[in-house]
Amino acid sequence: MLINNAGVALYDDLSDRSVLEQHLAVNLFGTYGVTQAFLPMLIRSGGALVNNVSMMAMAPLPITPAYAISKAAAFNLTQSLRALLAVRGVTVHAVLTGPTDTDMTRGFEIPKASPESVARAIFDGVDNGDEEIFPDPTSEVLAESWHGGMAKALVHEYAAFVQAPAAA
Ligand SMILES: NC(=O)c1ccc[n+]([C@@H]2O[C@H](COP(=O)([O-])OP(=O)(O)OC[C@H]3O[C@@H](n4cnc5c(N)ncnc54)[C@H](OP(=O)(O)O)[C@@H]3O)[C@@H](O)[C@H]2O)c1
Repeated sequence: MLINNAGVALYDDLSDRSVLEQHLAVNLFGTYGVTQAFLPMLIRSGGALVNNVSMMAMAPLPITPAYAISKAAAFNLTQSLRALLAVRGVTVHAVLTGPTDTDMTRGFEIPKASPESVARAIFDGVDNGDEEIFPDPTSEVLAESWHGGMAKALVHEYAAFVQAPAAA
């Protein structure tokens, strides 16, 4: 199992291009680069790829817009990787994490889940084969509408373009 967990989150207002580039470098290209590096091992072992994204991929908080943009891109990357890697025996999971009590959210006074409970829910989600994992009470509110929604249905439909053999 490869878990892409490293991430950076800075306050910004989108006025400085370099801040956006910094978020994309770590949260998008970091995830992409580590995945590419471990891909041969994941394919050999029929492993699982888990990308810790964020519920901000779906609902951006405008005090950290560059972060949210990078996580939306990482979420999209995760969905394409799932479709592309299915035929190679690798399962791909996106974690739509909500506020968790780590250094990243220090000083941000909102309800937060414990890192232990989030970690446990992520492993449970992987064991259950959940493609998207909502590992805490805040992110859980998105789960039902995502799983039953048109966007998810389209993701499945589009995945068939790379998974089904072309019709003769
Ligand atoms: N905390 C939350 O509320 C929350 C919510 C949604 C999603 N997430 C996601 O959860 C993941 C873990 O975040 P966290 O809450 O544990 O934050 P954190 O306490 O700030 O930890 C971030 C981790 O990422 C590593 N990292 C940052 N930039 C890196 C780089 N360029 N190369 C290698 N490692 C790097 C850091 O390593 P160093 O300490 O060595 O710099 C640190 O271990 C992140 O992807 C974050 O976006 C967190």
